[in-house]
Amino acid sequence: MTIPTAIPVDTSPIAATAANDDLDPLWRAIVDESRSRQNDIHLPISFAFAERLCQAYPEADALVVRVAILLHDTGWARVDQDRIISEGFAGDWRRADVRYEHERHGCDIAREVLPPLGYDDEFIGRVTAIIDGHDTRQESYSIEDTLVRDADRLWRFTPTGIALASSWFGYTPAFYCARLRAEIVPELLTEAAVQMADAELARAEVLLKIEQLS
Ligand SMILES: [Fe+2]
Ligand SMILES: [Fe+2]
Repeated sequence: MTIPTAIPVDTSPIAATAANDDLDPLWRAIVDESRSRQNDIHLPISFAFAERLCQAYPEADALVVRVAILLHDTGWARVDQDRIISEGFAGDWRRADVRYEHERHGCDIAREVLPPLGYDDEFIGRVTAIIDGHDTRQESYSIEDTLVRDADRLWRFTPTGIALASSWFGYTPAFYCARLRAEIVPELLTEAAVQMADAELARAEVLLKIEQLS
């Protein structure tokens, strides 16, 4: 059962959306961390989805959601880069040690980059509580956590996400699109995310000739 919203959901192509620029100083603080595991693609696209989710769920603290999604995977930059491939994309990758490590490092990075930009301890604690466990904790514990989890998945439904993820896992785009529909859509926690995922995936499948190239 997903969390409903009474607010009409913007399901237009995410690529047509310009995200807000008030967090540009924070983006500039994580340039080095953005060069790991395609974070410089994943984080901005997921950030754009997070902003749309915040519009659909105004009860969430949008700044917490936006800062948490922006920083959530920065910790990959401090994990042995070879292990991202050997452990992070193979075998039982959802339980791999590197997953826990990237969460811990991401919390450290949040505690390093946020204070100089004026964020206080209470706010930083709310952000790190979401980063810690975003991949490995089974349950969401707040609406902000929920929106970060959905934004983290939604980028995969775009042609860009399909391209990167299918190449990471060694899948054809057609196989990956089928997997998105069968396995990732059911993991989404909000009705707004399901609507955006369905719309993005339907467009991507037409664009990428998935039916013809199956
Ligand atoms: Fe992650
Ligand atoms: Fe992520």
